[in-house]
Amino acid sequence: MQPSPIIAPSILAADFARLADAVHDIEGAADWVHVDVMDNHFVPNLTIGLPVVQSLRRATAIPFDVHLMITDPERWAPGYAEAGAHNVTFHAEACEDPVALAKTLRAAGAKAGLAIDRDTPVEPYLELLPYLDTVLIMTIKAGFGGQKFLPEMLDKVRDVRRRIRAKDLQVRLEVDGGVAADTIEQAAEAGADAFVAGTAVYGAENPAEAVRRLKALAESVTVRA
Ligand code: DX5
Ligand code: ZN
Repeated sequence: MQPSPIIAPSILAADFARLADAVHDIEGAADWVHVDVMDNHFVPNLTIGLPVVQSLRRATAIPFDVHLMITDPERWAPGYAEAGAHNVTFHAEACEDPVALAKTLRAAGAKAGLAIDRDTPVEPYLELLPYLDTVLIMTIKAGFGGQKFLPEMLDKVRDVRRRIRAKDLQVRLEVDGGVAADTIEQAAEAGADAFVAGTAVYGAENPAEAVRRLKALAESVTVRA
């Protein structure tokens, strides 16, 4: 049986002038808060970095799910683990030795996640699952919020879920990009059990209510599975 679903609102879609309020808005409803770190190099967009994560960390007890869309994650990722992030996810496309970095992150006290961007096949990474705590399948091209969910990415989700089941692994399978009330069920059916949602949460009138709605939809699928 899949573990109960996690909803991770992405503050990329929140007001950057009031990030602490944005996190408080989802307290009690969200399981993780998803923090998109972009370096204007790995992706053509620039967001926030370690000092902001350190400050925001002190403003909430919600576990941080840090998504590093940066080059040279070996150099920067451990800092996020030391800052108290629950999960630190780096990109397969940016990392020479994902197993080594995963070990470093775990040694620093964080869960280790590997992200697979839209144009990257997942097969070469299936062997690495025992060294990972999270696999993040991008359901858009990494870089910007508000893009349209790509259902064709769900084949990768199915492949990873099949391997997790076959090997009886404890790995969270996360989807990121365009996740909303009209797409979350198909992602859950494919085997995802962690769901990043930016626009669908912070674009809503009531972010906490939006989180609860997404969670209920994901749970309805998990129960059927
Ligand atoms: C984009 C980020 C996503 C983004 C998702 O590269 O990784 O986490 O915030 O935003 P939505 O939910 O609006 O697609
Ligand atoms: Zn993300």
